Amino acid sequence: MAPLVAPSILSANFTDIAGAVRLIESAGADWIHLDVMDGSFVPPITFGSQMVADIRAISKLPMDVHLMIDNPERHIESFCAAGADYLTVHAEASVHLHRILQTIRDHGVKPGVSIVPSTPVDHIVEILNEVDLVLVMSVNPGYGGQKIIPSTLAKVERLVGIREEKSLSYRISIDGGVNRTTIDEVRKSGVDVIVAGSAFFNAEDSAAEVAILRGRR
Ligand code: DX5
Ligand code: ZN
Repeated sequence: MAPLVAPSILSANFTDIAGAVRLIESAGADWIHLDVMDGSFVPPITFGSQMVADIRAISKLPMDVHLMIDNPERHIESFCAAGADYLTVHAEASVHLHRILQTIRDHGVKPGVSIVPSTPVDHIVEILNEVDLVLVMSVNPGYGGQKIIPSTLAKVERLVGIREEKSLSYRISIDGGVNRTTIDEVRKSGVDVIVAGSAFFNAEDSAAEVAILRGRR
């Protein structure tokens, strides 16, 4: 099956977020990816739950919220209330991952877990039955426009295997450095969702870019 495409508004012009959302919709993309950064878990600061609420008010597309923040437990409620469809926390950001994932589900939102390139899949094996999404970071989180770290694709393959073995149903997404040069390799890993920041927003023809990332050209 063709993967879903989730453009990241991190690479949009922040003075025109409504325009970025319209572009994502008119290009036929599947989800909107929102990168929340706190200046602590990662160096940059981006935006908080108000951005999610404001986008919810103008779009029906599923919102895939990626929290790159420390102490995520403090912010679960506000992001759920803002209208996130998927809420993903980093395994490295909290000791009490299991509880956080359950809290997200209790709020009626789909829980996701993410791992940075240096974190092995083994680290999250015990909670894979609690998530609807596993977001594999294919660059070190914090910035758009970086080069993919190819070894991270083996983690996607491993997650595909575990899903099969344990009859689980999470989706697997890949985030960072996916573009028309790397997409063939990325798709071979069996990934379900492709996050694309710079590839989407720098494209001359965004609909064509989405089609390329899906594998239809
Ligand atoms: C990086 C973010 C990504 C980023 C991807 O920390 O999580 O979502 O926007 O950007 P590209 O596609 O430009 O690598
Ligand atoms: Zn992201």
